Amino acid sequence: MTPSLDKLNVVILAAGKGTRMHSQKPKVLHALAGKPLLHHVITCAKQLDPNKIIVVYGFGGEIVPQAFSNEEITWVKQEDQLGTGHAVQQALPYLDHAGVTLILLGDVPLVDVEACKQLLDQAQSQLTLMSVKKADPTGYGRIVRNGEGKVQAIVEHKDATETQRAIDEVNTGIMAVPNGHLVSWLSRLTNHNSQKEYYLTDIVRMAVADQVPVHAQVTSDEWNVTGVNSKRDLSTLERIYQRRYAERLLAQGVTLADPARIDVRGDLQAGLDVEIDVGCVFEGQVTLADNVRIGAYCVIKDASIAAGTVIASYTHIEQTRIGEACRIGPYARLRPGTELGNDAHIGNFVELKNTLVSEGSKINHLSYVGDTSVGKHVNIGAGTITCNYDGANKYRTVIGDDAFIGSNSQLVAPVTIGAGATIGAGSTITQDAPENALTLARARQTTIAGWKRPQKKPR
Ligand code: UD1
Ligand code: CA
Repeated sequence: MTPSLDKLNVVILAAGKGTRMHSQKPKVLHALAGKPLLHHVITCAKQLDPNKIIVVYGFGGEIVPQAFSNEEITWVKQEDQLGTGHAVQQALPYLDHAGVTLILLGDVPLVDVEACKQLLDQAQSQLTLMSVKKADPTGYGRIVRNGEGKVQAIVEHKDATETQRAIDEVNTGIMAVPNGHLVSWLSRLTNHNSQKEYYLTDIVRMAVADQVPVHAQVTSDEWNVTGVNSKRDLSTLERIYQRRYAERLLAQGVTLADPARIDVRGDLQAGLDVEIDVGCVFEGQVTLADNVRIGAYCVIKDASIAAGTVIASYTHIEQTRIGEACRIGPYARLRPGTELGNDAHIGNFVELKNTLVSEGSKINHLSYVGDTSVGKHVNIGAGTITCNYDGANKYRTVIGDDAFIGSNSQLVAPVTIGAGATIGAGSTITQDAPENALTLARARQTTIAGWKRPQKKPR
């Protein structure tokens, strides 16, 4: 990077309401790939290693800064939204004297780091802006060039003549300006135009008048500079984002049953020969090791899954670590704090929470196991429930290696089942069960000879 860019300031415009979103929420807080639009722009800005990131906010008030309280950002409020030039004026007191300012828009979430770097490479002594050719340029500021192709002005759609409206090269709103010039140009802005707004784009004419070179870099990627104005735009960019993510996974060798039917809302790391069926959602940080297979319609959040494990369809997993060669689902639910050793089997309608299931253990059907340590090679029968909550506090259950829990048992915590213990089906266990013994806790079966079913009384 050029030396002057030690003093890079990024100003992100995010004060607008976004009327066409038809929402009470400020536009920049609407989510794309599970994160606010503004988050994506801030992420791009951070990768440019700026001296300062300044966000101009307004509509929605403090909930915008509050949503990013753990980021190092200078927040500047624009009380009334009097135009993009007025918005940048609010940031002037915070700019580094000799630096360069990159202006980004809070509602352009797919903004590309490399394109910004290219823009900044030339920004030291000239005004550089990013433009794009549009099949339908309606509504955008047009880039007006002279006979030699030199940029002369940006004319907003509403102020443009018929001839100017025929220009298909438009302003993306992203530009880089040396701060010395920016300060002087912004001080000269007026709102003498059809919208009575202070247009940032008027600084182009001023640059030309001051004989400061203006360069418009035409981007070939329309999506990277597309702004979100409506829920339709948001859904379009969401699909673009997801399609690109899917393409990257395919390029790495991941098998996707359908690249149009996967959603990654965070970061998905995949090893070799990973297969993912349709309709899966990955959130947060998910790691799939070699040969992992994910069935259809799984939702997996903040989890790591070791090599060779198969997750069958409709399984939900959150904050869980899963060992190698496990068999999970279909219809399993692994809740936060769960850890599975290698070769564990978790079957349909089994819910686990804050539970360790050690190597080779099986919970195959219809069970709730919470706040529990399950040893190795344990078999937990269908319908087993750990009663971990007394209405006020939670307690742990400990099950030793090689234990066998009969179907439809309740283990009332705190309780320990010894290694090798067998619990008879239908038991309600309220005291510790010793090792290597059969423990039963249920009414004994009796048969009453001569018993008769009740008869209907005659009318
Ligand atoms: C602006 C450009 C136009 C360009 C278009 C690209 C101006 C005058 N026009 O149009 O040339 O083609 O973007 O989308 O700059 N904002 C504020 N405060 C304000 C006004 C806007 O923070 O007072 C923010 C909005 O939240 C948004 C961005 O600036 O993120 C752009 O505003 P918007 O109204 O969408 O753009 P236009 O002014 O129509
Ligand atoms: Ca506007």
